Amino acid sequence: MTDAWWKSAVVYQIYPRSFADSDGDGMGDLRGVIQHLDHLAGLGVDVLWLSPIYPSPQDDNGYDISDYQDVDPLFGSLSDFDELLAAAHERGMKLIMDLVVNHSSDEHPWFVESCSSLSSPKRDWYWWRPARDGMEPGTPGAEPNNWGSVFGGPAWEWDPATGEYYLHLFSRKQPDLNWENPAVRSAVHEMMRWWLDRGVDGFRMDVINFISKVPGLPDGTVTGAAYGDGSASFLNGPRIHEFLHEMYEQVFAGRDALLTVGEMPGVTVEQARLYTDPAREEVDMVFQFDHVWADRGPDPWVLQRLKLTDLKAIFGRWQAGLADVGWNSLYWNNHDQPRVVSRYGDDGDFRVESAKMLGAVLHLHRGTPYVYQGEEIGMTNYPFGGIGDFRDIEALGQYAQAVEKEGHAPEDVLTVLRARGRDNARTPMQWDDSPHAGFTTGTPWLPANPRYPEINAARARKDPDSVYHWYRGLIELRHTEPAVVHGDFTMLLPHDEQLYAYTRRLDSTELLVIGNFGGTPARAELPDPAAWDRAELVMNNTAQPPADWVLGPWQAVIYRRTVTP
Ligand code: GLC
Repeated sequence: MTDAWWKSAVVYQIYPRSFADSDGDGMGDLRGVIQHLDHLAGLGVDVLWLSPIYPSPQDDNGYDISDYQDVDPLFGSLSDFDELLAAAHERGMKLIMDLVVNHSSDEHPWFVESCSSLSSPKRDWYWWRPARDGMEPGTPGAEPNNWGSVFGGPAWEWDPATGEYYLHLFSRKQPDLNWENPAVRSAVHEMMRWWLDRGVDGFRMDVINFISKVPGLPDGTVTGAAYGDGSASFLNGPRIHEFLHEMYEQVFAGRDALLTVGEMPGVTVEQARLYTDPAREEVDMVFQFDHVWADRGPDPWVLQRLKLTDLKAIFGRWQAGLADVGWNSLYWNNHDQPRVVSRYGDDGDFRVESAKMLGAVLHLHRGTPYVYQGEEIGMTNYPFGGIGDFRDIEALGQYAQAVEKEGHAPEDVLTVLRARGRDNARTPMQWDDSPHAGFTTGTPWLPANPRYPEINAARARKDPDSVYHWYRGLIELRHTEPAVVHGDFTMLLPHDEQLYAYTRRLDSTELLVIGNFGGTPARAELPDPAAWDRAELVMNNTAQPPADWVLGPWQAVIYRRTVTP
């Protein structure tokens, strides 16, 4: 397993509704993806991950699935999908699907049947519970427990027809599947085998560490927010390892060259060692959240600035924790995160430099890097105005809860949503300088970022100094330099608040990576600078190499040396 192919791979995430629209309805689609495959092959990525394309009422942009084995007409058809898969494979790229099985849509036939009566054979496929003892069903506070949903409001919806509530950790249109029921698990396994038989190369598993719940569903911790925090009863729950190992045996065993990555909010390093230990046969890697929650303060509606020392402590802990067992995934961006150049970089005068610096610092860690559409051209956050500019169910739901139920000032909540809201990631991919950034000939479902005349793929591909070509270089370095893939990791300068520095070492090759997380020059106080006197400067994002280890604003450098014993 030490030579698993995905250790030297880079994954590119496509959010289909915002990637490219081929038919002018304002919504991206599969034929749009096919049209842009050469952009991705040119970047050098090995794997494409497609966010959900299945039939869906689109309450949460497709993370609410009403049929797991088809394509939503918004995005095309199964035959478009087959064509995309073949075209990706022809270009040497694999393709993984998004697996959303903590919950289905409330419009999935399984849920429709489950709802139909108390004695429905599928009643137990979801989490149904009566009202709290002594309370009038359907009245405030009568929910079976105090849990809040991630998108605001209670985690329970009352069904007057059968007189019970169902659990939904996300929106009320995303009822949680009951994984305690073996029939649910085998239906999911069968569906997954169907996709693998069709030729897909693996899965990104949505909130997969939520699937095992403490069956009693006890009240959660009371935090001062409108609802209790039930996470102790569903994060990394009691049977999670059993469920994932069973999935491995039922779906993945005996199939080669797949990639599985579990999205796991709240996962710890210790748990991740278990999830990703190849001997345990669960998943290849997990998405942890510590480094994207590093700028979150105790009050969710007060913006907190990142402390670089915190970020280094987090990455250092994950690198060390998965050094001998398991494997890391590496990401700054996805469809749920704001744009990293706006978040941890400088999207003004130093946009290009800081986007490159962030890419280098991330990609040279040990682990499999993920690039989210637009990151490779340094796309920025969108200038949102009022709440009416947002489309994301999370932003709208959290705003309503924070302002209407918890009494936060609207402007405070908006400040945080503008900086951190998920719609920042979901504005159309910027292809060129034609109207709507070349995303659509119609009206896009979310407006293009007004910076597209300057920031777009056509321009970036033509400019050898662009973020695109820098990312291409980082990906090529991973493919050609084994120390990037397999080298040991050592964090340097853990107490420096401006410079991020580390080494990677494999046999006689050692790499040194330094990134300046600030707009002023800073000197790296390396433990053994003389060792690097004759080192080769492999990549540098500014015109000048550092003199006397002083890095310019947002500078990033990668050195390589041969270690003589
Ligand atoms: C994951 C997805 C997110 C979605 C949620 C519910 O966190 O990445 O987009 O809203 O799960 O499916």
